[in-house]
Amino acid sequence: MMEKALDHLVERLDGLAPAAALVLGSGLGGLVDQIEDPIRVPYADLPGFPRSGVTGHAGEVVAGLFAGVPVLMLSGRAHYYEHGNAAAMRPVLEVLSGIGITKLILTNAAGSVDPDMLPGSVMLISDHINFSGTNPLIGEPSDRRFVGLTEAYDAGIRKALERAAKATGTALHKGVYMWFSGPCFETPAEIRMARIMGANAVGMSTVPEVILARFLGLRVAACSVITNLAAGMTGAELSHQETKDMAPIGGARLATILQHLFQEGLLDG
Ligand code: HPA
Repeated sequence: MMEKALDHLVERLDGLAPAAALVLGSGLGGLVDQIEDPIRVPYADLPGFPRSGVTGHAGEVVAGLFAGVPVLMLSGRAHYYEHGNAAAMRPVLEVLSGIGITKLILTNAAGSVDPDMLPGSVMLISDHINFSGTNPLIGEPSDRRFVGLTEAYDAGIRKALERAAKATGTALHKGVYMWFSGPCFETPAEIRMARIMGANAVGMSTVPEVILARFLGLRVAACSVITNLAAGMTGAELSHQETKDMAPIGGARLATILQHLFQEGLLDG
């Protein structure tokens, strides 16, 4: 299955050899419009790729030049809460590794646990807490499953993102992302717990992809776009509509950072 997807993607890329890939989270898919002469490959044409059923997730690979650099973007991801399979993104990441991707930047929409990190903010993930009770490497038979996560989030890519943020005058928070399984939003008590445990943001994705990326030897970094203050921090109830409506605001800030990152070749440094 993986070989078929790999062969098909290589054929469609027609010699384009991106070294970096981006996974676009809820409401962040607009970044693909900034790719010149995009090559679009629907997940449906790639055996093993997820059938994303979440609104706000398109489900296609879009490749081409972004800020002058060959890049591959994944618009749409599989979430654990869709089917209970934490490893649903494994075939995708294996194919990326297979085509020569060595650097991966993950993005997501998240709730802020910190009253000073408001909706519209962007947070560079420095570390995570896996609060889901599961792991995408459960069932992996080899000793390779014992992946070290001491430096899961690549120091070099993080530094490059920080430099790009600084150069463009874009505020970039840093913090710990806590993975809840979803699909419900958290309770106020869970958010108080998350804060005590050291989380800055909460969300329903990304962590399994980071674990799989490290398993496959990819260098990985991740950014959250804050769409809301987490449960109980305001009087309001949370909704997926709010996530979709608010994501483009922080998404535009993140796009500025990413454009500069690629344009200036900061990822290579
Ligand atoms: N919690 C979990 N996931 C989210 C949130 C939230 O508050 N906002 C956007 N994704």
